[in-house]
Amino acid sequence: MFEELSRINQKPKPFEFYTTPLLWNDPYLSQQMLKFHLDESVDLASRRKAFIQESCSWIFNHFNLSSSSKICDFGCGPGLYTSRFAKLGAQVTGIDLSERSIAYAREQAKNENLPIKYLVQNYLEYVPQEQFDLITLIFCDFSVLNPSQRKTLLHIFYNSLKDDGALLLDVPSIAFFDAASEKTEYEYCPGNGFWSKDPYFVFTNKFKYQPEKLILDKYTIIEKDSSRESFNWLQCFTLPALESELHACGLRIKDVYSDVAGKQYLPTSPEIAVVAKKTPFQGNSCCVACV
Ligand SMILES: C[S@@+](CC[C@H](N)C(=O)[O-])C[C@H]1O[C@@H](n2cnc3c(N)ncnc32)[C@H](O)[C@@H]1O
Repeated sequence: MFEELSRINQKPKPFEFYTTPLLWNDPYLSQQMLKFHLDESVDLASRRKAFIQESCSWIFNHFNLSSSSKICDFGCGPGLYTSRFAKLGAQVTGIDLSERSIAYAREQAKNENLPIKYLVQNYLEYVPQEQFDLITLIFCDFSVLNPSQRKTLLHIFYNSLKDDGALLLDVPSIAFFDAASEKTEYEYCPGNGFWSKDPYFVFTNKFKYQPEKLILDKYTIIEKDSSRESFNWLQCFTLPALESELHACGLRIKDVYSDVAGKQYLPTSPEIAVVAKKTPFQGNSCCVACV
């Protein structure tokens, strides 16, 4: 028992395990995640409806989008952004590895007669076939990836952007990292809980990795005859650290905000949203936030 509890509460090395695809594609869990996506009042798998609406209006105006604009939303989930972009008239592609989310998104697009192209695909394996005016990666998805996966994805973005195209993504900030506290807890669920329809115990460890500015939510789910683990990594960034990763892949930060609805950037905000471009930014400073 002591050894088992020690194993459960063990802190892995940074990004030692990658279980993200399971969370979104497991038949039971993907159902739970879709429910969260579609709950308009919470910021769980997607942000709440009011924010998404505000964000889509801002994106459309900020990027001066029109019926000739091509947008690709990486990690589009059930299409909460893609459907709004399409309703505003843009040509839209959505990529996501969750079969359940894409099936929902396709059904919605069919019902609303929206010509959105959806791909069920791991975006880390996406081979660019066309180039977009705007690429979005929304709700801190960049941060669940390890450094090598982030580099792969940035190269894919680079090759998928038109020369004057723009990338919009958001990440948790150092203020978010500092506000998080490590914790260890466990809970019993008698059935029909988030992790399983059967009864289970779940041990939750929140670990912080100080030098890496990395957070891990580790879940150990123990059912009658089996146990499994889920690792949710969250890389937090300073603006220079984010800038350096983008720069290494040929992308330069053009604008910085506190969220993907264009809120003014403040170093104390829990998120950083950036607009990056392939073309060199004209000016003496590396980006507007450093002016
Ligand atoms: C936090 S949700 C955000 C969904 C959407 N961007 C939104 O804000 O409504 C993350 C999404 O990314 C997808 N995802 C995670 N890793 C992925 C990968 N490697 N390839 C493709 N999609 C991925 C998940 O299936 C999920 O739909």
